Amino acid sequence: MSFFAYKNGEMHAEGVALAQIAAQVGTPFYCYSAGALRAGWQEFADAIKGMNAPHGASICYAMKANSNLAVIRLFGELGAGADIVSVGEMKRALAAGIAPGRIIYSGVGKKPSELMAALQAGVGQINVESSHELETLNAVAGQLGVKAAITIRVNPDVDAKTHAKITTGRKENKFGIDIDLARDAFALAGRLPNLDVVGVAMHIGSQLTSVDPYRDAIVRVRELIGQLRQDGHSIERFDIGGGLGIVYADEKPPSIADFMSVVKRETEGLGCELTFEPGRRLVGEAGVLVSEVILVKPGAAKTFVIVDAAMNDLIRPTLYEAWHDILPLRQPRPDAATIRCDIVGPICESGDFLAQNRDLAPLSAGDLIMVRSAGAYGAVMASSYNSRPLAPEVMVDGTRFAVTRPRPTIEEMLSAERFPPWMEPTKA
Ligand code: LLP
Repeated sequence: MSFFAYKNGEMHAEGVALAQIAAQVGTPFYCYSAGALRAGWQEFADAIKGMNAPHGASICYAMKANSNLAVIRLFGELGAGADIVSVGEMKRALAAGIAPGRIIYSGVGKKPSELMAALQAGVGQINVESSHELETLNAVAGQLGVKAAITIRVNPDVDAKTHAKITTGRKENKFGIDIDLARDAFALAGRLPNLDVVGVAMHIGSQLTSVDPYRDAIVRVRELIGQLRQDGHSIERFDIGGGLGIVYADEKPPSIADFMSVVKRETEGLGCELTFEPGRRLVGEAGVLVSEVILVKPGAAKTFVIVDAAMNDLIRPTLYEAWHDILPLRQPRPDAATIRCDIVGPICESGDFLAQNRDLAPLSAGDLIMVRSAGAYGAVMASSYNSRPLAPEVMVDGTRFAVTRPRPTIEEMLSAERFPPWMEPTKA
């Protein structure tokens, strides 16, 4: 079932016409379908049901993909924990109602103050990525008089076959501890009195469209787990990370069921509780970015459709050469002629584009468009470059919709700033 579809020639999110939201909220805005979020969750929930008994499997939503409070709460109510990478994300997870014990704290560079905040809040698991972090965490836990439950994230050196900027499991990447050095790191962790080593973690990359790299990585980590147990460590958990891809153009990512059946086969008899940290797969296709055409500018080489969303709202096209589908909110006639165009924003940079060389039915000023698969790494990567206010986020559920993060006014944005005391006050 598609949660974004034309009905009577008008694009709807579930039961609400996106043009109706645009009229009320203004453009640009992100729109998330609660139905699509639930359906995405259900696919995971079904696939892990009864899996890996008696140790079980659980899902911690990687909220870096979309940290809107309403989105986190929706997943939390369905049973998700959270995978976080900062204290800011931790506070969001807690504010959205995630129990601290269901939070996993990942990240390659955690500050002592952040580790302290995480331990004080009682996060369930910290995924440590370096010997330095082991020592720091041990010291912080000692100060607090607690034991920190940790896994060590290993870097299995497999090629996830995705974009270079979102590959994380190669030797060249900054993430995790080289799998060949992992036994030493576990030995160190075992000697540190304030750490409770509970398992191993990995995350090999993002937007993976094949299960093969997961299989290769699991095989390597499985072997490591055997060695670690021989070394006397009790390895109870295996955190497999996130990374499952979605459809932007014509990718064919594996179904969750197929992915899980490979994981199941490769971890059979391992005797570990499994954790998954999906982000994009849960939210990516459940969100769109809606924008209005400001003007159409015929150029010597091609036509530029200048819209009111820009690279500050969705940086993926210019940062990763990412392809996002663009659709007009009013359904074009099937026989409509197309023109070749670039969909660009108003920002003063040539890298400010949402799509290039697209063949679209002609657009004109005032028309509305949507950018698909913008639910992941859209709003969370936005900035207010060019003093553009962050675009609001809207959630649709059936025939209802609500703004879950309003657009700030320029005055609100300015009020966050201060003049140094030595400057003359501005004269009104
Ligand atoms: N776990 C860890 C430790 C991660 O670093 C990530 C993503 C995830 C889980 C979730 O991965 P996902 O299931 O969403 O692929 N901004 C980029 C993606 C960066 C991903 C960073 N880490 C993009 O727009 O493609």
